[in-house]
Amino acid sequence: MKESQPRTIYLKDYRKPDFLIDATDLNFQLYEDGARVTSQLHIRRNPDADAFRDVLELDGVELQLERLLLDGRTLNPDEYQLDDETLRLERLPKQFVLTVVTWIKPQENTCLEGLYRSSSMFCTQCEAEGFRRITYYLDRPDVMSSFTTTIEAEKSRYPVLLSNGNPVASGESGDRHWVKWEDPFKKPCYLFALVAGDLEWVEDSFTTMSGREVQLRIYVEPQDLNKCSHAMDSLKRSMTWDEEVYGREYDLDIFNIVAVSDFNMGAMENKGLNIFNSSCVLANPETSTDSAFQRIEAIVAHEYFHNWSGNRVTCRDWFQLSLKEGFTVFRDAEFSADMHSRAVKRIEDVALLRTMQFAEDAGPMSHPVRPDSYMEISNFYTLTVYEKGSEVVRMLHTLLEPEKFREGSDLYFSRFDGQAVTTDDFVACMEEVSGQDFTQFKRWYSQSGTPVLTVTDHYDAETSEYRLDVKQSCPPTPGQQEKQPFQIPLAVGLLDGSGKDMPLTLKAGQGDASGADGDLTRNILVRESEQSFVFTGVTEKPTPSLLRSFSAPVRLNYPYDRNQLTFLMSFDSDGFNRWDAGQKLAVSVFNELINAELKGEQVDIDERYIDAMRQVLLDDKGDHAMLAKMVQVPGVSLLAEQAEVVHVDAILNARQRVHERIGASLSELLLSKYRQLHAQSGNALDSVSMGLRAYKNACLMLLAQGGAQESVALAKLQMQQAQTMTDEFGALAALVNGPDIEAAQSALADFLCKWKKDQLVMEQWFSVQAASERHGALDSIQALTAHELFSERNPNKVRSVIGTFGGQNWRHFHAADGSGYRFLREWIIKMDGLNPQIASRLLTPLTRWRKLEPQRSALMQKELQEIMAHPGLSRDAYEVVSKSLK
Ligand code: PHE
Ligand code: ZN
Repeated sequence: MKESQPRTIYLKDYRKPDFLIDATDLNFQLYEDGARVTSQLHIRRNPDADAFRDVLELDGVELQLERLLLDGRTLNPDEYQLDDETLRLERLPKQFVLTVVTWIKPQENTCLEGLYRSSSMFCTQCEAEGFRRITYYLDRPDVMSSFTTTIEAEKSRYPVLLSNGNPVASGESGDRHWVKWEDPFKKPCYLFALVAGDLEWVEDSFTTMSGREVQLRIYVEPQDLNKCSHAMDSLKRSMTWDEEVYGREYDLDIFNIVAVSDFNMGAMENKGLNIFNSSCVLANPETSTDSAFQRIEAIVAHEYFHNWSGNRVTCRDWFQLSLKEGFTVFRDAEFSADMHSRAVKRIEDVALLRTMQFAEDAGPMSHPVRPDSYMEISNFYTLTVYEKGSEVVRMLHTLLEPEKFREGSDLYFSRFDGQAVTTDDFVACMEEVSGQDFTQFKRWYSQSGTPVLTVTDHYDAETSEYRLDVKQSCPPTPGQQEKQPFQIPLAVGLLDGSGKDMPLTLKAGQGDASGADGDLTRNILVRESEQSFVFTGVTEKPTPSLLRSFSAPVRLNYPYDRNQLTFLMSFDSDGFNRWDAGQKLAVSVFNELINAELKGEQVDIDERYIDAMRQVLLDDKGDHAMLAKMVQVPGVSLLAEQAEVVHVDAILNARQRVHERIGASLSELLLSKYRQLHAQSGNALDSVSMGLRAYKNACLMLLAQGGAQESVALAKLQMQQAQTMTDEFGALAALVNGPDIEAAQSALADFLCKWKKDQLVMEQWFSVQAASERHGALDSIQALTAHELFSERNPNKVRSVIGTFGGQNWRHFHAADGSGYRFLREWIIKMDGLNPQIASRLLTPLTRWRKLEPQRSALMQKELQEIMAHPGLSRDAYEVVSKSLK
């Protein structure tokens, strides 16, 4: 909480640290009213400092300093300077031991950074700058130290005491006991972790490729012991995959995971002691949906992969965050693609990128993958740093092709092992092994905004030449009016009249492309703002399949007509583009409806869209997970993102019409498909069964949204007979979004009664209502926040009600009278006093105010101004609100 305006930190001001901390010895004494932390820091001057200043400035926030000793001598208060955020010492020896004793209050810590309580345990979260809430320290990732940690606590309340590395000693006296941990790998303090609690665990082991045995444990509260096996299996699969695909082996003798229920993010890769939001690790088929299973597998893998991409090689400063996050997201995406359907994984990731990241990149918080300034680093754990960052690594992978990319990653891991480095260092390795020059490519790290590719084509029957004319541009973003052209790999295929891929021969002297003549997909390399590519030997006018597998994070404009799109939906050999053609078709139909309504005109829904849906439903051979994606109607968020000005009512009305029309024309087909899939789907957890359930529940949802009365009975029955949460929750969601309000109410009540003891299931119950156009009117949302199972101290609950309402409930959040906006503002202010990170994330929907039509836009802006005027606003919220109003 700050009265003065927060300071902006710039990448260009980076300086190497003046001091290094070789060793950090920590001692924690945990009590019911607080914790005493004694820290011994072995410090010396940094011989490589940029311009050595003999001033040691240690970071510290909300700490009570009890004692400070220099080489064993207690310092008097006039020998150091203390303010709200720093402890300053001058005229220091070249090398010394500083002992710092602080008293902290984990019980009162509601921001969930540093040491805090979750249920009956103590736990920590130090990334990005939480360690400074534990003790005074050089809280920056380029200061890497070895750590030993001794934890002492009451034995009966906290039988389990964990930290990073290996346990090396333990003992007890009276009702207290202690355990000492030693982490042999140097690490920045953001990777420090501690857990103390009355936990139980499941255990397994893994033998690494060099034959070392690693003990694996997942620690949970006793009631969750039956929810660990999926995460454990996922962990072992991740360990194998990283050995096989990246040659990376685990390096400690034990690997621990702890599930905690109060956590700001998904999970955290602390060295040897990953801490997870319980929703991202705990699962069993009775309580968790298939999507939860897949998400958990991906997050367990993500955190595990960080052991190399993040921990062994870490970030020099927080501007480099995507060095570890973009790369690790890319690694976990490839892992998931290898475990399940590659095309479906790609579809999911791109759908997220295009709805959420594109919106971020077009809004007031738009920033490059490597930001060049921030006020509060917590605000930069974004879709841009994570998802776009991953796309950038994916493009490098495309440009190098797998073998060279692996050479590059091997070089990166070996050259920088144990160091804190930059995205430039990463790219340099890729340049070195490939001989390619990535000077232009690196603009992907420094320029913000989503590039636009505008493609037109020309076919010359006489010469059998087919030409693609490509233009690129990038809209202005905050602080960046002008952009330089990007290097963009554009994957192209050409379909002949029968839907087959034509072999591609690129005319010499017309730009570069990966692959060889005769290949069916080529990545043409767009480098200029305008460029043409000519294919020869094209014997008939082709249908182009552009940006296959979404080869670059760009908006693509090509004037497809609807016949071409239905053709691609049926025939494109690229699964991603088959789905995307359906999306493009749907979006163009929606836009026609929306534009007509805005002009007060009436148009019919293009029969070709309904026909295309029918074709998908008639497909008996396709992969079910894929077909489930193909029948999905584009969400409001995607339509809003693609609109120039968002007219909420027009979008919602168009959606309503499309759903009703699908109901009217396709109900019978949806019903028979549903029955057929229901008979096949069962309760197994393999990808095929998951695909069947996904498709089945998608059909049920379409029936419900189309208003089909039959959907109600089917959903009730499915809910009663369900053997998996996927089926149970799928049915509940269909009822909540279906035509029968009473049936929905009673299903919600039954579900509550059955599951009220399970927090994670209840979070789903909260969010299905908060998202619902029918059940999520403001008074219902208010009732949910007053529910006995709701808690403003638990981020998952706040996200599932308030976050879902603001982010997904377009009808009621954007109520024309502004009541939804006002409600969100009140919650943001309330949360800002408790947990600024959560408050800041809840702000996102309001930051989009400029895109809304004038009336709503003004109402949203007013709420932002109210927040801005709130005294004592956190740095987190201040940054987002002030940038949004600028
Ligand atoms: N580093 C974590 C991850 O991506 C995310 C995280 C950031 C968690 C900050 C907590 C706090 O795996
Ligand atoms: Zn990560």
